[in-house]
Amino acid sequence: MLEVDGLRYRYPDGHEALSGVSLSVNDGEKVALAGANGSGKSTLLLQIAGALEVQEGRISFRGREGSEVLRQNTGLTFQNADDELLMPSVLEDVAFSLVAGGMKPSRAHERAMSVLASLGVSHLAGRPPHRLSGGEKRIVSFAGILASDPELLALDEPTAGLDPRARRRVIDFLRGTDKAVILATHDLDMALDVCSRAVILHDGAVACEGELPRLFTDREMLERNGLELPLKYQR
Ligand SMILES: Nc1ncnc2c1ncn2[C@@H]1O[C@H](COP(=O)(O)OP(=O)(O)O)[C@@H](O)[C@H]1O
Ligand SMILES: [Mg+2]
Repeated sequence: MLEVDGLRYRYPDGHEALSGVSLSVNDGEKVALAGANGSGKSTLLLQIAGALEVQEGRISFRGREGSEVLRQNTGLTFQNADDELLMPSVLEDVAFSLVAGGMKPSRAHERAMSVLASLGVSHLAGRPPHRLSGGEKRIVSFAGILASDPELLALDEPTAGLDPRARRRVIDFLRGTDKAVILATHDLDMALDVCSRAVILHDGAVACEGELPRLFTDREMLERNGLELPLKYQR
């Protein structure tokens, strides 16, 4: 479904954040993207979602290229949910992309309500997004991307900063969705719960990739790449 091939990316200040990354995501597959801070996870997700232009290499979605194709088929949530919750109410926020895409506001609001209900958070519809707890913001940002029904979810650290209950709700949501997911995370235990495969980035390149849980039992490889064994394998 998604093919990334030889992707390189240099920020305007000259820093090369990705230096030749290749990976693929199949229909309905859930892939974890792990790696130390600065290894290029967020940059890669932004490119996969069509939010940063491709400079060198290729990204194709079902054989088609271009940032418009990627934006249409991918739902991106940012590392910091505050960066994407901008409207006065949760309902308007979730409906925003639909209205921006030309849907009648009344229909967009109906659709937004049904997505909020499917995530068990209809009660948040009238609340100002910036007043929500971290976990609520995460769920609302999922609602925002699910409203436009993308085929691939690109999620940047979806459990960062969440308390155990909110984290569990995010994990349950991710386990339950039949959409394809690529998620950047330091939370290897969450990745084990959700993903069937992982790709480990180091300094903008793929250092290792393979099936879970096996890949995350290799302490030496993880430590070489700035990671630690998942808690469930530490004793
Ligand atoms: N806007 C930017 N301008 C210049 N360098 C950046 C920018 N954003 C990220 N970088 C650099 O690119 C590298 C990869 O960053 P990032 O993709 O955010 O990594 P990760 O998400 O794995 O922590 C890091 O060295 C980071 O400092
Ligand atoms: Mg990041």
